[in-house]
Amino acid sequence: MGRSREKEDAESRFNSPVSISVADSSVSLLKLISILIIFVVGVVIGLVSSSHIDRYFSFRADQFNIKNIYFAADQFSSDSEKMLVNCERECALSMESFIRPLNLNHRMTDDELFWRASMVPQKEEFPFKRVPKVAFMFMTRGPLPMMPLWDRFFSGQDVDKYSIYVHALPGFELNVSNSSVFYRRQIPSQHVEWGSVSLVDGEKRLLANALLDFSNERFVLLSESCIPIYNFQTVYKYLTRSVHSFVESYDNPSRYGRGRYNRRMKPDIRLTDWRKGSQWFEIHRTLAIKIVADTKYYKLFKKYCHPSCYPDEHYIPTYLHKFYGALNANRTVTYVDWSLMGPHPATFTAVNITEGFLQSLRNNGTLCSYNTEKTSVCYLFARKFDSSALEPLLNISSQVLGF
Ligand SMILES: *[C@@H]1O[C@H](CO)[C@@H](O)[C@H](O)[C@H]1NC(C)=O
Ligand SMILES: *[C@@H]1O[C@H](CO)[C@@H](O)[C@H](O)[C@H]1NC(C)=O
Ligand SMILES: *[C@@H]1O[C@H](CO)[C@@H](O)[C@H](O)[C@H]1NC(C)=O
Ligand SMILES: *[C@@H]1O[C@H](CO)[C@@H](O)[C@H](O)[C@H]1NC(C)=O
Ligand SMILES: *[C@@H]1O[C@H](CO)[C@@H](O)[C@H](O)[C@H]1NC(C)=O
Ligand SMILES: *[C@@H]1O[C@H](CO)[C@@H](O)[C@H](O)[C@H]1NC(C)=O
Repeated sequence: MGRSREKEDAESRFNSPVSISVADSSVSLLKLISILIIFVVGVVIGLVSSSHIDRYFSFRADQFNIKNIYFAADQFSSDSEKMLVNCERECALSMESFIRPLNLNHRMTDDELFWRASMVPQKEEFPFKRVPKVAFMFMTRGPLPMMPLWDRFFSGQDVDKYSIYVHALPGFELNVSNSSVFYRRQIPSQHVEWGSVSLVDGEKRLLANALLDFSNERFVLLSESCIPIYNFQTVYKYLTRSVHSFVESYDNPSRYGRGRYNRRMKPDIRLTDWRKGSQWFEIHRTLAIKIVADTKYYKLFKKYCHPSCYPDEHYIPTYLHKFYGALNANRTVTYVDWSLMGPHPATFTAVNITEGFLQSLRNNGTLCSYNTEKTSVCYLFARKFDSSALEPLLNISSQVLGF
């Protein structure tokens, strides 16, 4: 713009002597001189502007040259790592980052994330070797005191069979060494208030981030006080071979169950649909997508389920019961001790960690349904464990827990 205005000024300045010289036709010398002046000025202007243009175009050409060299080098380079570095920003269409995003960081809003995570391929075969993974999703306020035990649980296991996601409070950064399986596994989080619908938002955020990896097949929600009570191979087989998801979902006629139902949820959710269950679920990919994709029922809970109604205890159990009951085992695989009858379950500390206690969590003689059979393995995980329990657990895990 600046350049063209300059050019117009020069032209108008230069037009006035032309008209004067044309008017005075009797003095031919003057005419000749003025033509000479016009010619010289024209040449000067021409030189100046062409050098501008030249510089402009040679600059652009440089850019194109750099790009061409860049891509040519990439195409012929066998160094694939260099290519990855070069296309950090650009390769949105790279198959690798589409099927398995390695960097968990993104700037998507929940709406954008849930929309993207809800997409389902229509093709039955995968154009890559898909090994089903178990996504271990940790919901925590801050540190994960049981991390060394989990690190041991995952140690030496096939990295193609699991993935880890951590939702902590915003601003909290896990102190993780680069040799830990938890290294760089924190997802973009938002504030979560226990008991409010924001806890369900956090669960959906974990599910949605984990859904972006197309190999994730089973999704288990865990807390900072959860421990595994079987080794990885047992947990992996148990979950990936199950035809059901493990979400506790039951009708509780008391004021702690049906008493929390709000009639204004009618007609979409009736009292007969209303279910209760533990927040600590384990679900198949199919259901994870349904939960992330649901807006209608989620909104009813957000609007009408406030303390003493707790969305994390009712939304998923009710939603699955209403639409996908046949896919659910209706029991949880995470043990918790409610025997104290208080508002909070029992917490196990260092003194409680004995071989007998852990064996009773693994098998107390009760049988549970698994697919079409019965099994003595009812629980794969247990809570709540105090950080003081870590040392004795590490001491005893290889002997009792199998890892
Ligand atoms: C992080 O962990 C290392 C060892 O695991 C410890 O030395 C360091 O003090 C920790 N840093 C913080 C900020 O907690
Ligand atoms: C891990 O961190 C250590 C020290 O902080 C560093 O020497 C090492 O190269 C890192 N390893 C990897 C795989 O990044
Ligand atoms: C779980 O409950 C649903 C009803 O919501 C039922 O259809 C389903 O058969 C139950 N699952 C099992 C494994 O019994
Ligand atoms: C833990 O051990 C202590 C001391 O033996 C006992 O009083 C307490 O009941 C145990 N807690 C649980 C939840 O079993
Ligand atoms: C064994 O586990 C079942 C199922 O959780 C429970 O109902 C029962 O009370 C437990 N029994 C013992 C002796 O711990
Ligand atoms: C570890 O286990 C051994 C027995 O197996 C026991 O003697 C020792 O006191 C335990 N240490 C801790 C820290 O629990």
